[in-house]
Amino acid sequence: MEDVEHIEKEMKLIDDNGVRLDGRKFDELRPVRIEAGVLRRADGSAYIEWGGNKVLAAVYGPREAHPRHIQDPARALVQCRYNMAPFSVSDRKRPGPDRRSVEISKVISEAFSAVVFKEQFPRTSVDIFIEVLQADAGTRCAGLTAASVALADAGVPMRDLVAACASGKIGGVVCLDLNKEEDNFGDADCPMAVVHGTGEIVLLQMDGHLTYDEFQKAMDLSLGAADKLFELQRDALRRRYSVTLEEILKESPPVPPPPPPAEEPPSPPEEPGEPGDSDKELPEEDFGPEGL
Ligand code: CDP
Repeated sequence: MEDVEHIEKEMKLIDDNGVRLDGRKFDELRPVRIEAGVLRRADGSAYIEWGGNKVLAAVYGPREAHPRHIQDPARALVQCRYNMAPFSVSDRKRPGPDRRSVEISKVISEAFSAVVFKEQFPRTSVDIFIEVLQADAGTRCAGLTAASVALADAGVPMRDLVAACASGKIGGVVCLDLNKEEDNFGDADCPMAVVHGTGEIVLLQMDGHLTYDEFQKAMDLSLGAADKLFELQRDALRRRYSVTLEEILKESPPVPPPPPPAEEPPSPPEEPGEPGDSDKELPEEDFGPEGL
């Protein structure tokens, strides 16, 4: 309904000064907040708020893959299930998998397959669950960015963190990180996931059309955003694992030092000629009648 009103008012998605409907410039990310280790029963977990998106990611494994026939004797499987809660969108979403969630699960599994050291864990699976609690466009990127933190939180060995951000085109201008209105009424949307250390692209999709030059610009914007997201991912992990000295002391208070040894009472003054005095000179006759 809100979207229809926008069309009726013929609102521009980006004005002549290059300002978007939510006040951002073409190269601005929506506000992003990441927390690591939010679920006790998962091996690793993370929660991300990204603009209007709220997404949880949980990781289990590496654990024995079930059913057994899916096991790979040479490497681990990396499996992802992306799911949208029925209440996450304005029109209630029918619960359960649909074509879109199957596609997103597949592309995210493939992205992480490229970074996890799968050969170290034959016959196992690393299971990633992404639950979208509130959606506002860009949920696959938000889910993937959170899942990367959850994998690190689980201690799953991987080459590096992966961060994802879409760029697209609205009103003929290439922009970073489209929101729901921009995604619905814009010209193109191009989500991208990047391995931090290498800059390798492990997910790239396109909805709409971009020229070669527009695509280059979109890619530059997404690569720049991935660097910022990486900082936020690393901060979330640092906050989870860096403990302050105060916390350490609370967990295990320092052992008190042993008491100093009791002072020995002063020895009484020695009486001359007392028996048992080892320093006393023996009389000459002690060495025999003739002496030595
Ligand atoms: O979320 P993402 O941009 O990765 O995927 P999309 O398929 O481009 O979906 C864009 C947005 O459409 C989602 O984030 C939701 O806000 C919305 N959507 C919806 O309202 N109902 C659905 N069944 C699916 C998506």
